[in-house]
Amino acid sequence: MTPGLPHDLLGAIEDLRKARNAVILAHYYQEPDIQDVADYIGDSLQLARAAQKTSADVILFCGVHFMAETAKILNPERIVLIPDMAAGCSLADACPAPMLQRLKDKHPGAKVVSYINCSAAVKAISDIICTSSNAERVVRSIPENERIIFAPDRNLGAYVAKQTSRDMILWPGTCIVHETFSERKLIELVSKHPRARVVAHPECEPTLLQHAHFIGSTSALLDYVKNTDAPTFIVATEPGILHQMKKAAPEKELIPLPGQDESCSCNECPHMKRNTLEKMYLALRDLQPRLEMDEALRLAAKRPLDAMLALP
Ligand code: 13P
Ligand code: SF4
Repeated sequence: MTPGLPHDLLGAIEDLRKARNAVILAHYYQEPDIQDVADYIGDSLQLARAAQKTSADVILFCGVHFMAETAKILNPERIVLIPDMAAGCSLADACPAPMLQRLKDKHPGAKVVSYINCSAAVKAISDIICTSSNAERVVRSIPENERIIFAPDRNLGAYVAKQTSRDMILWPGTCIVHETFSERKLIELVSKHPRARVVAHPECEPTLLQHAHFIGSTSALLDYVKNTDAPTFIVATEPGILHQMKKAAPEKELIPLPGQDESCSCNECPHMKRNTLEKMYLALRDLQPRLEMDEALRLAAKRPLDAMLALP
């Protein structure tokens, strides 16, 4: 056992959660042990809404940096902790705000729709935020005569452009996890399991999405597996979601789609997996690492988030 850590880590987390009046929010891509101690598990939209509604004094956000940042934008008066401050996101990294500003300057008047997987600085220069569960609705909320810049996920952008028949300017960011899935492996698996339904997250490449029976956010994929009468599902998203899928549908066979190289675990998000029970305990004990944000930036980033959260 690591020195300084209690023998009964789960009991110690529980005691600290009560003592701090803390709420633990966890994304579906977290390790099963983290999902099992969380007060609330969800996709990006559900977690943003949970962060908006909480009355806890402390939010321990088991996800990645942009998610904890979103919680702080919505809760300036609460302490927001993240187990590991280095838990980033390749999509957020792919879109520095000054570069997005340059693209905006080239297209004056265009509306900027930013996927929630971006920094607060990018949110601050966006018109409206979206997540994978509401991206289509968000884009449809913008009048057809308005030009749209969609950042930073080109795959989600291309998928939504197709669904809405909107010609959008796409930022060229990708998710390092979802772009790794192999179409060849998927075709092999489908031929071995001809009755399987293929479910995929819209962060996957279009070549992969064309094989999917259902495309949706993590929570939508979970609902589909739960409610669809099929014996087998091939799951093209981060395999952390399988924990809840197995609980919801124990009788169904769930096959996680591997990455290009089956010998690595590159279908797992290395950022999400930085969080551990040990780091959760330390965060609640020390009230660190803590998200802090400049108030002017927070207010600017809140405006497009509020625009999204106000949509029905
Ligand atoms: P959702 O949980 O909104 O589907 O997003 C997936 C993801 O990649 C989060 O980083
Ligand atoms: Fe970012 Fe992809 Fe990890 Fe989600 S799975 S946090 S989009 S790198």
